[in-house]
This record gives sequence, structure tokens and C-alpha cells, in this order.
Amino acid sequence: MPILDRIFTAQGSPNIAFVKYWGKRDERLILPYNSSISMTLDHAVLRTVTSVMLSEALDEDVFYLGGKPQDLGDRELKERMQILEILRKAAGSDARMLIASHNHFPTASGMASSASGIATLVYAANAALQAGLNAESMSIIARQGSGSACRSMLGGIVMWRKGTRADGSDSYAQQLFAEDYWPEVVDNIVVVSQSKKKVSSRAGMKQTADTNPLFRSRPESAEARARNLIEAYKNRDMGKLAQIIMAESNEMHALMLSTVPSIRYLNTASYALMDAVEQLNMSVGETICGYTFDAGPNANIITTQEHQPKVSKMLKEFLEDGSVQYVKTSKVGSGPKMLDDPHAALITKDMVKEHIG
Ligand code: DP6
Repeated sequence: MPILDRIFTAQGSPNIAFVKYWGKRDERLILPYNSSISMTLDHAVLRTVTSVMLSEALDEDVFYLGGKPQDLGDRELKERMQILEILRKAAGSDARMLIASHNHFPTASGMASSASGIATLVYAANAALQAGLNAESMSIIARQGSGSACRSMLGGIVMWRKGTRADGSDSYAQQLFAEDYWPEVVDNIVVVSQSKKKVSSRAGMKQTADTNPLFRSRPESAEARARNLIEAYKNRDMGKLAQIIMAESNEMHALMLSTVPSIRYLNTASYALMDAVEQLNMSVGETICGYTFDAGPNANIITTQEHQPKVSKMLKEFLEDGSVQYVKTSKVGSGPKMLDDPHAALITKDMVKEHIG
């Protein structure tokens, strides 16, 4: 039974995809054509905090983001928030929720806030509803809010298994490697632009899957890359890992570019960073770092602590000439967790007074 009028607060983080999800075989259930793999980022660097409170006095869900009330009638938000209905069904409850969420990201870092936000919300609501769902079941729900969100349901290196069933019951996230398996891995989040992307991932991937004949070979190629990536990570082989993630990022962006009409997320600074990574690897005589880009121009440069000073030095030049705005470094992070400190709660007395009385 859900506990009414108590605040449940959780914290979670975004993830960066090493093997990308780009294309849905089922748009309603959000089922992908291929499995994807990501690294969950460190809560200390990027995190979402979300509080959930259930009350019988509410006749509809209420959602605050960054302290501001959101319009749950908005088409996109409504689509994503269907996860609340799914959660209620799973918990056998009809309790409405007062939700307050905040993304503690460096200003518009270009990181996918929806993945972090949805995963954290599912985690907090699962506790509030006393639904008792495990990570796998929660990832199936998060997936239906935003595909990549299912991978933020766990820490470490996470695989979203594409599954084959039509109802999506075998399309969920699983941890491949715990965060302490290879703790030396570092992600440099390199911010070159803070503007909102012109084409959303959702619209962009649909356009690619619908119009691009090259997309036909994509699922097979992504699955093969996933197998190789698991092998490289298992062997803690940064050279191989970096080569795989660069090839993967390039393949996805080539697919975007060859979509009709063409979708281009990378800019001049992104290409300059790709050049610099390749030059650094060449000058060292081995692959010590690799880049990957999601649906935007900001780079994620993966390396190990051993080689981080060289990568930092390379990035310093970009920071100095202004083509990079700032860099955040993240180690491999853990999955969402509950915050027991009542001071962490984001639901204020005013919110309660206004909506519950
Ligand atoms: C390029 O998960 O944001 O970051 O499922 O439509 O909400 P929806 O899309 P979303 O797409 C993420 C695309 C990507 C690659 C990835 O994270 O795997």
C-alpha cells in the first residue's frame, strides 16, 4: 500500500552511450532496433534530484521542474509522463503524485537531462508507491518515458537489451560491469554549445529509420560493435574501447547526415575536437582516448586516469581559444539511490499548501 503524505527523494544521473540507440521498431512502447551500451555518469558531477509525495487530496499529478510548475497537458511531457500511469498500474494504486525535480547540471551542459530525470522519477515513485519493482522492471517503465533513460536505472556500464517480444517485456537494462570494475575510466564532457538542438532525438531517429536506406545495415553493425565493446571493457583495453566508440559515434552521425532531409548535430568545434583526439593518439603512438557524440555538438572524450593529464592539456588549448566553453570530468557512476536526509526534499511547504491544503 502506498504511503500518503510522506516525501520520498531520490538522486540519479545521466549516461553517455558507447553503442548508440538510434531508431525505434515500436514508437509507442519505445522498442529499439538494436541493443545499446552506456556509461552511467557520476552523481557528484551531474545529477537529478526528485521528490515524490502521494496524496488523496490531489485530483491530478503535479510536476515542478527547477522550482517551476510544468504543464502536464503539453504533448511531449504528457507522452513521457505516461510512465506515472504505468507505475500506478504496477503498484495497484491510483494515488496522484506531487513531484518536484531539479537537474544539478552545469548550466545547460547539453547532457541528456531527460534520461536522468525519468530514471530518477521512476526510482522515487517506485519507493513512494511501495511498488517493490526491481531495477529491470523499473527500466522497462523508464524506457517508455525515454529510451535512453532505461540505462540510467543502473550504475556502471549498462546494456539496454533490445529484446524481441512485441510487448517489450524483454527490452530492459542490465548492468554489464559494476562501477568499480574499471574505476580508472574518465569521461570528459566537453561543452562547445549550450543551444537547444534543432531536431529532437525522437524526431531525428524516426526520420533516419523511415527514410535512410543505409539504416538497414545498422542493427547488425551495432550488435557486432556491442559484442566487441564488451570484450574490450572486460579486458580493460582503452585502445580498443576508444576505437570502438569513435567508429560507433561516426557511424551514427553518418546515418544522421545521410538522412533525408539531412540531420547534422556536429559543428566546427566538434570536428576540431575529433581531429585533436586523433592527433593526440598519433603523437603518443597508441590510442589513449576516444570521442563520442550523442545528438548534439558536445563531445565526450573517454580515457583513463593515467592518460587524463594529456587529454586535459589538449583540451586546455580549446578552452583558451574559446572554442570550448567548459569541461567536466566524470568517473563511472552508480545507479539511482534514495536520499534519506529530509533536507534533500524538493517539495516545499508552499507546494503542499497550494496543491494539498
Ligand atoms: C543519440 O532516449 O532521447 O543519445 O526514446 O525518443 O526519448 P527517445 O530518445 P532518446 O535518444 C537518445 C539518442 C542518443 C543515443 C543514445 O543515448 O543511445
